[in-house]
Amino acid sequence: MSHPGAPERYSRPAIWLHWSVALPILVMIPAGILMTDEALPRATRDTLFLLHKNLGTLLIPLIALRIWVRLRHPAPPLPASMPRWQVRAAGLSHGLLYALLVVMPLSGVIRVRAGGFPIEMLGLSGAGRIVPRSDALAEWASLVHWASGLLLLAVLALHLAAAAHHGLILRDGIWQRMSPWRRR
Ligand code: HEM
Repeated sequence: MSHPGAPERYSRPAIWLHWSVALPILVMIPAGILMTDEALPRATRDTLFLLHKNLGTLLIPLIALRIWVRLRHPAPPLPASMPRWQVRAAGLSHGLLYALLVVMPLSGVIRVRAGGFPIEMLGLSGAGRIVPRSDALAEWASLVHWASGLLLLAVLALHLAAAAHHGLILRDGIWQRMSPWRRR
């Protein structure tokens, strides 16, 4: 049960899916940045590549499920006292985050498969080539992946700053809407 007057929480499945996608993404970003750093030992980069490609591919069905749940159950309404611009900013940033959750893994898979490299998880699942082998397509997907990664970093920074502001400073119950722990 939440406090009387506190904003309505997201549903249990929505909270579970939010954290099971968000936490691996917090691993994917530093892994993606570090694995492209030529100053690191080859073996370290190879391990990070293996982690990044396969964890990212495993996230695709989870992200699809997350979007499906979100489309079926709209987010609980924000408090009427919240300024309009903040409601709009929340809607826009959440929409962008969902779009990036689709673009990031798909451009990653296209970049790797069009470049002629393996994705072990896909190989094990028996999936075929998926996209034709093409250096031009691989380069284009690499550019999309990199630019979307920059945008994701910027939107994620705003998202985390807003969550911290609501949870630590305003303490208005917005953070509790998505918190994995229920308030007593
Ligand atoms: C939500 C999922 C993902 C996130 C947040 C993510 C994030 C990142 C970031 C921040 C970078 C560094 C920027 C860059 O150098 O391009 C990167 C690089 C890379 N990622 Fe991902 N990634 C995701 C999924 C995937 C998947 C599923 C694959 C492949 C199966 C993949 C393959 C790559 C590759 C190959 C690079 C190096 C870029 C290049 O050399 O072209 N990523 N990723």
